[in-house]
Amino acid sequence: MKNKTNIVLIGFMGSGKSSVARMLAGKLGKRYLDTDELIRQECKMDITEIFDKFGEEYFRKKEKETVERVAALEGTVIATGGGVVLNPENMEKLRRSGIVVWLRASEEEILQRISGDAGRPLAFNRSESEIIEIYSKRLNLYAIYADIIIDTGGKDIETITIEIIKHLKNTYSNNGKYGNIIGEFQRVRQIEG
Ligand code: S3P
Repeated sequence: MKNKTNIVLIGFMGSGKSSVARMLAGKLGKRYLDTDELIRQECKMDITEIFDKFGEEYFRKKEKETVERVAALEGTVIATGGGVVLNPENMEKLRRSGIVVWLRASEEEILQRISGDAGRPLAFNRSESEIIEIYSKRLNLYAIYADIIIDTGGKDIETITIEIIKHLKNTYSNNGKYGNIIGEFQRVRQIEG
């Protein structure tokens, strides 16, 4: 099996995937990509606009194409949209080349961060209980696909990022199951203190 050199962040809307992925990539000296951002660039439209104009199905098709492209890359920290886990093909591809990290946020945190956010079409105009219902349905999927689970409660972006690096170091160094992923991240020694 080919070594996994990507790190893929999954989790519900508002769990901090993009901010953490950006910082993680910076600390590891790796490239950072965000599937939603790539879709935005390609469509030259915000995610909300894509949902409004073309519907969720179209967005999921774009998401699938984007996932296919980024999963083929190496040495990249990839932030995904919260619904990426809905399609098993997405996850199969991402898991082939990357370690999957689930940023697990509590219901309270999620609601605090995304309620009424017009940039998130699946959360906007939905009641708190509707959002929690979507979240509950997804939980199982995040759990199934996660190699590493990080609880985000009460932690800032940097704390979460350092925690991920520690997990990667403990679990995936020394030519373990996935080869020496940390060995491939050259700057890690400088930041672990
Ligand atoms: C979605 C999450 C969003 C975005 C789209 C759909 C979802 O990304 O991909 O609005 O289905 O959970 P974030 O998780 O970054 O908000």
